[in-house]
Amino acid sequence: MAIANKNETQRTGARPGDPCALVIFGAAGDLTKRLLVPSLYNLRSSELLPKNFAVVGVTAAKFSDEEFRDKLTRDIRKFSRSPVQEELWDWFKPKIYYQSGDFRDPTLYQQLKDKLAVVNKQQGTPGSYLFYLATAPQFFGEIIRQLGAARLINEENGVWRRVIVEKPFGRDLDSARALNKEIKSVLDERQIYRIDHYLGKETVQNMMVFRFGNGIFEPVWNRRYIDHIQITVGETVGVEQRGGYYDTAGALRDMVPNHTLQLVAMTAMEPPISFDSEAVRDEKAKVLHAVQPLSPEDVLTKAVRGQYGPGTLDHKPVPGYRSEPQVNPQSATETFVAMELRIDSWRWAGVPFYLRTGKRLAQRATEIAIQFKRAPQLLFRGTEVESLSANQLVMHIQPDEGISLRFSAKIPGAVMNLGAVNMNMKYEEYFGVVPWIGYETLLLDCMIGDPTLFQRADMVEAGWRVVQPVLDVWNGVPPRDFPNYAAGSWGPKAADDLLEREGREWRLRL
Ligand code: BG6
Repeated sequence: MAIANKNETQRTGARPGDPCALVIFGAAGDLTKRLLVPSLYNLRSSELLPKNFAVVGVTAAKFSDEEFRDKLTRDIRKFSRSPVQEELWDWFKPKIYYQSGDFRDPTLYQQLKDKLAVVNKQQGTPGSYLFYLATAPQFFGEIIRQLGAARLINEENGVWRRVIVEKPFGRDLDSARALNKEIKSVLDERQIYRIDHYLGKETVQNMMVFRFGNGIFEPVWNRRYIDHIQITVGETVGVEQRGGYYDTAGALRDMVPNHTLQLVAMTAMEPPISFDSEAVRDEKAKVLHAVQPLSPEDVLTKAVRGQYGPGTLDHKPVPGYRSEPQVNPQSATETFVAMELRIDSWRWAGVPFYLRTGKRLAQRATEIAIQFKRAPQLLFRGTEVESLSANQLVMHIQPDEGISLRFSAKIPGAVMNLGAVNMNMKYEEYFGVVPWIGYETLLLDCMIGDPTLFQRADMVEAGWRVVQPVLDVWNGVPPRDFPNYAAGSWGPKAADDLLEREGREWRLRL
């Protein structure tokens, strides 16, 4: 996390990444064209890529360097979020290389070594490598083992070697532990960057500044003033072309131990003693460790699963999950999860954290809503005011990144009537810069060796520990009512009941 303090409205102060070659395994996939290359382009346009830099794509497909450059040129024109400036791309294009091969074949790694020697000569890169594993997860361990055997991850003569591991990191607690063990037998923890792209999002990072860089919020950020917290990660998309993966994963594995719990950790962590990566990660890890484990009975009452059936979105009919490509027509995979968690700490004792995430929901909206306790009603007794609404502070993570605060105000007139008003801050309106995709910050951090926004082994395992009881109960008891929500709704009724039972309701609802 680059810390700049000079100019409030510009992305200045960050230093460019160290000279290096970025080697992307699985470079012909969606992640590279939709997110990685556009993010690298944005870094270049902010002058944050090192001058001596190269990208080497590795997949099984056959491309020459030239063909791969042409492919990425077509892709960037399609997926860049800002118009592509020719002179910037002309700088970038010759720095792209390609190596084809089978990830399981040791000769690939020898060929890659030779290729990198050529790259270093042509681009003046010193031999520092950033390996990005954007492959199917079953290759993570294999690729790292092979990189080790080919001595591609040895840090000698002042060069560094780092590995970015994409999600999913394991399928459950045991497999995550096994993967950690496997990769740590080859790499040092400080060489491993387990990515969670939610931590690259501007508003997620802003949570720390908001909480700890302002005097007024932290004193009320606790059980005395906060009634509950709602975290919604709502998507309108279905499973798109990823039915094959998704049908074996489900919403719980796909979104909760990683993205959603990272949002919990950012919201609930204690102030770290510094911005040092370990200080920040220690505090986040403590929150994950303090989540009360759910008993099997709790899972039945505090966790809700759902699967979408056919419905309507944007006034158009959309099919149910079981009719999506590569999905089993009798699938019992959940596409929606809601759960209530508690954090065992002095700050959060008694404060429910309600989480929900799902596909094909009514709105694309990711937000953290902090609901404060109501003011006492007594002053308004005998007036027209029947109930006071609670103050709500909402961190809007996407799509409109910003922060809003809801409070009560008197509606002008002779009678005492109150209305809920919103004070809104939108990043784009205020700072005038289009927020980055999220991968820019993360890629840059890897190039400068800052792991603050990456998951440490203990954090990944703590995340899985939270969801493991739910996985166990759900595996043992197949759902009987799937599909149980219509595409375009806010999920199954049981998710509303979860809050209603406790006299609360979701902020975002139909
Ligand atoms: C990914 C999940 O990690 O995050 C996807 O695998 C999900 O299923 C995506 O759609 C959501 O990311 P974002 O940035 O669009 O909220």
